[in-house]
Amino acid sequence: MDSRVELRTALEKARTATESLLAPVPDLDLVAQVSPLASPLVWDLAHIAQFEELWLLRALHGHEPIADAHAEVYEALRRERSARDEVPTLRPDAVRAYAGDVRERALHELDHVDLDAPNPLLRKGFVYGLVLQHELQHQETILQTLGLGGTSYPIRQAEPVDRAPDGPDEVRIDGGSFILGATDEPWAYDNELVPHEVEVRSFFIDRAPVTNGAFARFVDGGGYATQKFWSTAGWEWLQAESASAPLHWQSADGGWERVRFGQVEPVPPDEPVQHVSYHEAEAFARWAGKRLPTEAEWERAATWDERRGKSRFPWGREFMGYEANLGHTRFSPTPAGSYAGGQSSAGCVQLTGDVWEWTSSYFQPYPGFLSYPYAEASEIFFGEEYRVLRGGSWATDPLVARGSFRHWEHPARRHGFTGFRCVRDA
Ligand SMILES: [Fe+2]
Repeated sequence: MDSRVELRTALEKARTATESLLAPVPDLDLVAQVSPLASPLVWDLAHIAQFEELWLLRALHGHEPIADAHAEVYEALRRERSARDEVPTLRPDAVRAYAGDVRERALHELDHVDLDAPNPLLRKGFVYGLVLQHELQHQETILQTLGLGGTSYPIRQAEPVDRAPDGPDEVRIDGGSFILGATDEPWAYDNELVPHEVEVRSFFIDRAPVTNGAFARFVDGGGYATQKFWSTAGWEWLQAESASAPLHWQSADGGWERVRFGQVEPVPPDEPVQHVSYHEAEAFARWAGKRLPTEAEWERAATWDERRGKSRFPWGREFMGYEANLGHTRFSPTPAGSYAGGQSSAGCVQLTGDVWEWTSSYFQPYPGFLSYPYAEASEIFFGEEYRVLRGGSWATDPLVARGSFRHWEHPARRHGFTGFRCVRDA
């Protein structure tokens, strides 16, 4: 995607999706902070526009800040970092005007920009990919916030999907070396680079993500009361959080219910579990006599085939022609075993498009890492504070959900659409 027309279409499609997510929310709720973990929804829109102004107007085209026309928005965004509680409220109509203004200017520049100019920001349209992915990722953040809000939001229900042929509970992945990292991704983030050879041992991996039904057996069997299943940090988290089940679950007569976008419903047993922290995923794995995969194991299972080498998605190179459960066309994962066309070469299902999957890997740079185009993109998050999630959830856009994509999160967090699958040594 690097022609003028394709870039314009992609930008417009992304904006339409952002607007349609926010459209059902009254202005009063757009400015509310529903949780310390989430910004007000209107902030996401202001920040999406601010990022676009910074990269498409200022960095690429040398524009001056357009502060004059949107002083109120600028003031709030400028103060946002330093003194959160003193931030003036962002008015939704002012933010919408700012976002529209930035977009209009960006599209005007796109009509005239020389896409072949020798500018690293334009190489294969990189800066457009940066701005697009940023907006798409914030759509997932918006959905996380909507999920935390507790107020009713119109859930998108999609048609039932087809099923993969039945298979064993686990599949074997043969050990060997493979290429970890983005090999052929024009818009890869710096943290996916440099692709390099790594060796993994043979292992068995769950064919599908762990389901609500399986997780309920862990909960009902006393998993949250049995310290030996939990790491030291996990047990401390459990006490501090007083957690007794995944986020949004509540016990009901004879089973479990969940609150999903403000609506109470029975927990569907065959759906991949979501809203579990790293600690909960790790404890379940230990209870099951297994462990969480490393990100290298996950990427090998999801993208590598001995004969054809690396592919972008578990099912192959192309997204087109395969209707994965990506891009929030429905507001939930699909039942375990869905999507005949989505199987990996080893026979795993739902490695992308249902839940982000926790891995045991810390978010660390690959060998040869070079920060680009700014340190806040990845570099400042490296270390042992965050664990890597892989795969992409139902709320993730296909553009983002490539097999080499590394998402990172604090191990205590579970307001995202996070689940997992387990592995064991062969
Ligand atoms: Fe952002």
